[in-house]
Amino acid sequence: MSGLLQRLRHEHDAMRDMLVLLEREVVRYRRGGRPDFELMRDVVEYCRAFPDLAHHPVEDVLYENLQARDGDAVAAIGDLEDEHRRLATLTQSLHETLDDLVADVEVPRDGALALAGRFVEVYRAHMSLEDRQFFPRLEAVFDADDWQRMEAIVAARALPAPEDAARRWVRLREILLRGSLPETAPWSAEP
Ligand SMILES: [Fe+2]
Ligand SMILES: [Fe+2]
Repeated sequence: MSGLLQRLRHEHDAMRDMLVLLEREVVRYRRGGRPDFELMRDVVEYCRAFPDLAHHPVEDVLYENLQARDGDAVAAIGDLEDEHRRLATLTQSLHETLDDLVADVEVPRDGALALAGRFVEVYRAHMSLEDRQFFPRLEAVFDADDWQRMEAIVAARALPAPEDAARRWVRLREILLRGSLPETAPWSAEP
């Protein structure tokens, strides 16, 4: 598998982890709890800083080049660039809503949580489409020279180094792992 494709698949795994965090808060709210809006905003900021700026642009390069080589593939996959634009708009809108909620501005909570739930669904469906349709088609159509050319095009785009997103991801991942463990160690629990 090309290094570029491996990287994109790995990034999907990282993004799925972040969606679990967001979904957990939506579920907490549906069960009558108080969601952690700041944590939710952190996840959405990660999506703005990483997928929107560094992951989707790489896929756009691959998609444009696939389109030039294999028109049928694109008919099967759909318009990925348009999906990326829609995801960016959805991300922006959820970010604004969460900004209001964090600042205690009056926002209908049901609507906000429904938006977050839709965000998780749309993101997952998008990545699943890429994993099942887009990536295998790239593997089938591109040879080693094509991949080398793609690497060169991506490098020339000089996409922003997602350091801020990486730092944010590490912190959020810690929260994610902590959430799957008991709050206190079993040996320190009251008898
Ligand atoms: Fe994508
Ligand atoms: Fe992707």
